[in-house]
Amino acid sequence: SVLEMEVEQINKGKYEHYMQKEIHEQPESLKTTMRGRLIRGGSCKAKSVLLGGIKDHLKTIRRSRRIVFIGCGTSYNAALAARPILEELSGIPVTMEIASDLVDRQGPIYREDTTVFVSQSGETADTLQALEYALENGALCVGITNTVGSAIARNTHCGVHINAGCEIGVASTKAYTSQIVVMAMLALAIGDDTISSQARREAIIDGLFDLPKTVKEVLKLDQEMKDLAQLLIAEQSLLVFGRGYNYATALEGALKVKEVALMHSEGILAGEMKHGPLALVDETLPIVVIATRDACFSKQQSVIQQLHARKGRLIVMCTKGDAASVCVGGSCRVIEVPQVEDCLQPVINIVPLQLLAYHLTVLRGYNVDQPRNLAKSVTTQ
Ligand code: G6P
Repeated sequence: SVLEMEVEQINKGKYEHYMQKEIHEQPESLKTTMRGRLIRGGSCKAKSVLLGGIKDHLKTIRRSRRIVFIGCGTSYNAALAARPILEELSGIPVTMEIASDLVDRQGPIYREDTTVFVSQSGETADTLQALEYALENGALCVGITNTVGSAIARNTHCGVHINAGCEIGVASTKAYTSQIVVMAMLALAIGDDTISSQARREAIIDGLFDLPKTVKEVLKLDQEMKDLAQLLIAEQSLLVFGRGYNYATALEGALKVKEVALMHSEGILAGEMKHGPLALVDETLPIVVIATRDACFSKQQSVIQQLHARKGRLIVMCTKGDAASVCVGGSCRVIEVPQVEDCLQPVINIVPLQLLAYHLTVLRGYNVDQPRNLAKSVTTQ
C-alpha cells in the first residue's frame, strides 16, 4: 500500500535501499556492539573486556578441548574471520562447521567441546538443528545472535548479543562486522588470564576503540567503488583472493557479489592458487587480490606477481601508501584502505567489497534488498 511504502521510505532515511543504509551505519552499529563491554583500563586497572552473558562460563570454555564454530552463510564467514585470533589468544584448537554439513555427517561432538552458534536471526533452521545435535551430545553451547529472544538465544547455555540493530537487507552487512567484533571480544575474554599476551590484548582493545572511526574513513571509498562497479557491470565472473585473516574477507566479498549482484563470484584461499584456480587466469577475468599488511603480505605480493605474469586483470586491495609496492608493472587497479590491528583488518577490508556489491547490483538493475530466490531468515530445510 501507499502507507507501507511511505513508512519504508521513512525507515530508510536518506538512503535508497536498506543494504546501503546498513553499510553506512556500520560506524554506529559497531559502537553499539562494543558499548559497555570494553574497559579502558587506568592507572591500576588493565584494559579488558566484559561480556556479561558468558562471564560465568569462561572457566569452562578455557578448559574445553576444542572450540567449534557453527553457522551458515555470512555468519559462518564471520566466524572464519575470527578464528585466527581465537586460536592465538585461547591456545585452544578452533574448528569450523557449516551447520548443515555437521548435521549431514553427524560429526563427532563431545562433552569437552565448546560449540559456538553464530546467527544474525537466531532462527536459521540448519543452525538450530546443529544446536539440538550439540545439546544431545553434551557440549557447552554458546549463542552469538543479533536477535534477543530468538530460538538460538533461548536454547543455548549462554551467549553474547551482537547488538548491531535490526538488519533488513537480505544480504548481511552490519551484522557481519559486528559478529567479527563480538568474536574478537570473546577471544579477548577467554585469553584474559594469560600474562604473556597482555600487550597484544591491549593493542587489540585500543584497535577496537578506534574501529568505528576507521570504518567511517573507509566508507569514503563509496564513489570509487561505484566507478569500479561501472567497470565490472557486464562481467560474468569475479574472483576474490585472500589468505590468513582475510581468507574470510574473500569468501564474504564473493558471497555479497553473488547474492545481490547475481554475478558468479568465488572467494579463493590464495594458498590454493596453484592447485586449480590459476587455470582460470587470463586477460579478461577480473580478480580482486586482498594484500593488506600483515604476516602474509610478502606471500600475497608473490601471488600478485604470479597472476600478473599470466596477464591477470588485477584489482588489488592494499594498505594506504602501498599502491606502488603491490602494483607490479603499474597495470592493476588499486583499492587503498587504512591499516588497523591485523586481526581487526577483516572489518575494514569487507567494507569496500560491500559497497562494490551494492553498486554492481543497482547498476545491473537488480533488487538489492530482496535478491531473487533468497530469504533473510531460512527457517526451512
Ligand atoms: C540466509 C541469509 C544470509 C545469512 C544466512 C545465515 O542465507 O540470506 O544473509 O547469512 O541465512 O543467517 P543467520 O540469520 O543464521 O545469520
